[in-house]
Amino acid sequence: MIYLDNAATSFPKPSKVYEEVLNCMKNYCANPGRGSHNMAIKSALKVMEARNLISEVFNIKDLLNIVFTSNATEALNIAIRGTLKKGDHVISTVIEHNSVLRPLNLMAKNGVEVTLVSCDRGGFINPLDIKDAIKVNTKAIIINHASNVLGTVQDIKSIGKIAKSYGLIFIVDASQSAGSINIDIDKDNIALLAFPGHKGLLGPQGTGGLYIKEGLSLKSFKVGGTGSSSNSMKQPNEIPDKFESGTLNTPGIAGLCAGIDFIKKIGINNIYKEEMSLLEELLLELKKLPFVKIYGSNTLENKASVLSFNIEGIDASIVGEELNEANIAVRTGYHCAALIHKVIGTEYMGTVRVSPGYFNTSKDIEDLIKSIIKIYKSK
Ligand code: ALA
Repeated sequence: MIYLDNAATSFPKPSKVYEEVLNCMKNYCANPGRGSHNMAIKSALKVMEARNLISEVFNIKDLLNIVFTSNATEALNIAIRGTLKKGDHVISTVIEHNSVLRPLNLMAKNGVEVTLVSCDRGGFINPLDIKDAIKVNTKAIIINHASNVLGTVQDIKSIGKIAKSYGLIFIVDASQSAGSINIDIDKDNIALLAFPGHKGLLGPQGTGGLYIKEGLSLKSFKVGGTGSSSNSMKQPNEIPDKFESGTLNTPGIAGLCAGIDFIKKIGINNIYKEEMSLLEELLLELKKLPFVKIYGSNTLENKASVLSFNIEGIDASIVGEELNEANIAVRTGYHCAALIHKVIGTEYMGTVRVSPGYFNTSKDIEDLIKSIIKIYKSK
C-alpha cells in the first residue's frame, strides 16, 4: 500500500524500531522502577535513555521534567486540566484538534473562560489577535504548532514571547511537528509541550509525553503506584512520578528510543527538507488540476507535510474509498478538528488529507496524482 497518512501515525517505522520493541519484549521487559533485579534495572535504564533522547530533541535541561503518556491527547489533558481552574481565562484557537477543544469545552462547563482566536483561510493565526485577547484573569495560551488539517505552522516564537511578557503559561501541541520541525522549549518560551511518540518521532503507538517546566504546579488526575514512596497512600509530588502512575509502556518507549535515534542520525532539518520536497511536488501537480480545490495556504512557507483538498463534485469519503481501492492510504472527513472546517468552508463535507512522510517517494506522489485524475474522469 502507498501510505500517505503520516499525520495520523507514521508508517513504516525504521526497522530498528521494530527490532528494539521485540528485543525489549523478549529480553529485558521487566517493570521499570519496580524492582532492583537486573532486568528491572535494564528496563528502567531504557526509559531513562528515552527521556534523555527526548530532552535532546526539544532542548530540555532536566530530563525528569518529561512525563511519559500514552499519546499527545493524554499529555494535553494533563496540561489543560491540570493547569486551569474556575475563574481562569485561557486563549486558544479555532484550528486546534479536538484533543485541545474537548478538554477546553469541558473546562468551560466548569467555569473556565475560553477565548478561541480565529485564523485566516490559509490557517494562520495572527499573534497580535492572541495578544489582544489577553485579560487580567488569563492564565494560559494553547496552540497547535502545526495543523493536522492544513499543515499550517504557527509562529510559536512570537506567541511564546507574548506569553512570556504577560507571565502566561504557554502550552504547545506538537502532535504534527515533533520530529519533523525543530522545537526549542527555551527559545520558544514553552512551559508545557505535548508530543506523540508515534508520529514524527517514529516510535510505536501508545507512546507520547509532556514536558513540564520546572516550578509549574499541575493537578494530577491519575493516581496510583509509582514505584516510589511505596509505603505511603499519598501520591508523590515529584515529576515525573506524580503523573506516571501504573506500569509504563516499556516496549513502546524502547521502540521510541530507536525512532529518535534514527531521527538524530538523519537530522530533523533533513527530514523536514525531504517531506517538503514531496509536499512541493504534490502541490505543483494538484495545482495543475482545475477540478481540485486545495485548502489552506498553497505555498510551502510555514508548512508541515499535511495537505487537504477536495475533488469537485465528489464527496471526500468517496475519494478516500476509491484511493483505498487503488491501494493508497489517506484520511478523509473532519480529522478530529471540529472548528477549522467552518473557516475553510468544508463543514458539510470535510476534506481529503494527504500527509507524506520521510519514507515516501516521488513515485508515491505520481501514483496518487494519477489516481486522482482517474477518479475525477470516471465520476
Ligand atoms: N490526530 C491524528 C490525525 O489527525 C490522529 O489523523
